[in-house]
Amino acid sequence: MKPNASAVAAQAGNAFLTLQSPTHTFSSSNAPSGRGLVCHDRSFRVLSMTRPIRFGAYPLEDYRAHRDSIQQALQRVLEHGHYILGNEVAMFEQEFASFVGVTHSIGVANGTDAIELLLRALDINEGSSVAVPSQTAVASVSAIVRAGATPLFVDVDPVTFTILPESLDQAIHSPVGTQLKAVLAVHLYGNPAEMDELRDLCNEHNLILLEDCAQSHGATYHGKPVGSIGRGAAFSFYPTKNLGAIGDGGSVISNDTTLADKVRWLRQYGWRERYISDFEGINSRLDELQAAILRVKLPFLTANNKRRRSLATIYEKGLSDLPIQTPVPRPCCEHAYHLYVIRVKQRDALMKYLTSRDIPAARHYPRAVHQQPGYAFLAQRSLPLPNTEALVPEILSLPLHPYLAEDDVEYTVDAIRRFFA
Ligand SMILES: Cc1ncc(COP(=O)(O)O)c(C=O)c1O
Repeated sequence: MKPNASAVAAQAGNAFLTLQSPTHTFSSSNAPSGRGLVCHDRSFRVLSMTRPIRFGAYPLEDYRAHRDSIQQALQRVLEHGHYILGNEVAMFEQEFASFVGVTHSIGVANGTDAIELLLRALDINEGSSVAVPSQTAVASVSAIVRAGATPLFVDVDPVTFTILPESLDQAIHSPVGTQLKAVLAVHLYGNPAEMDELRDLCNEHNLILLEDCAQSHGATYHGKPVGSIGRGAAFSFYPTKNLGAIGDGGSVISNDTTLADKVRWLRQYGWRERYISDFEGINSRLDELQAAILRVKLPFLTANNKRRRSLATIYEKGLSDLPIQTPVPRPCCEHAYHLYVIRVKQRDALMKYLTSRDIPAARHYPRAVHQQPGYAFLAQRSLPLPNTEALVPEILSLPLHPYLAEDDVEYTVDAIRRFFA
C-alpha cells in the first residue's frame, strides 16, 4: 500500500502544512525557519525545493519555537492530575502579576469574560454606562453589554486610534453622560491610550478608569506596563495575541485586593467557600493546560515585543515617503505592535494588490462596533464619531509578528512601493 503524502512528509519530519492540488502535494518543512517548501508528484517523488514560504502563521510559529518546553509542560499537568485551578494557574497568576507590576492577576476563560467580570465585581451593571471607543474589537463592547451596563461610544484620535480625551469630555457633559460610571481605555493594536489625560478626567468626574489590554501585553506608558495604570485591567490570551495560549484564556489584573477577591469568587459560581455561592457567579476559569503553556511563553514576551518593534522600523523607513500614515508611537510609550495598522486612502485597492501577491493584509476591523448590525441598537444613542467613521475605510493591517524575517517585511514594503509607482 502506498503511504499518503502526509505520512511521507511525517517520516521526513516535515508534516506541518500540506497543500493538495490535483497533481501535486506541497509540504512545508519543519526546519527551524519553517520556510522550506517541498513539492511531490503523485508517486511521492520529491520534485523540487521552491521559493520559501513567507508569512508563517504566528500561533503555529510560536508553538514550534517552544515545542519541547510546551510538550514537557503539558506532560507535567497530565501526570499531576490536578486539571482545574491547580498549581499552573496559581503560578501563572503570580508570574503574570509580577510581569505587569501589580499585586493580583486572576486567570479566567478569555478576555471578554475578563472585562465582564471586572465590571460585575465593581457593580457596574443595569443603570450604568461605560465609555468605550467604537473603534475596537467587538468583544470590548459585548462584555459591557453582558455585564448589564450600557456602552457609550466615544471617538478616537485619528493618528493613535485610541480614545480621544476631548471626545470623552464631550460624552461626560452630554445628556447620556449622566449614567457614566467607568471608562474602558483600549490600547488598540498595542499602542497605549493617553492615560494621563483620561485619568485626570476620570478623577475630576468620579469615574473608574479601566484598561482593555487584550492587544497590548508588554506595552508601557511612561515606563509603566499597561494594565497597572487603571483600577483594573483585562487581558486576553487568544492564540494570536502577543502572549497567546493554544486555545482561549484571559486575566483580570488589579492592585485592589477587594476587587481581585470579588473577581476570584465570581469566576467560579460566586464561591467564597467551596459549594457556597455568596454571589451569582459564572464558570470562567483559566484552564490548567493553557496556564502551563503561558508559563512557557511569558519569559519570551519582552524579546518578542522588541522584535516586533524592530520589524516595525523597517516598515516605517520603507513607507515614509508614500501617501500612507504609519503607526505613531507616543514618545513616552513602548508600542507592543500587536498589529501594524496603516492608514491609506486607496485601502481596498492596496489590500487586493497585496493579497493577490500572497501578502496577508487584513482589516481590523471592517466596521466599527456601532456600525455592526448586532450592535446597531447602541448607535441610536451614540454621540457623533467623525474620526472613527473616517478611518474605518482607510485602515489596513500589514503582516507583523516576531517570527517574520526582515526579508518578509522588505518584500511587503517593496510590493507597496510598486503599487504606488
Ligand atoms: C481589544 C480586545 N478586547 C477584548 C478581546 C476579547 O478577548 P477574547 O477573544 O479572549 O475573549 C479582544 C480579542 O480579540 C480584543 O482584541
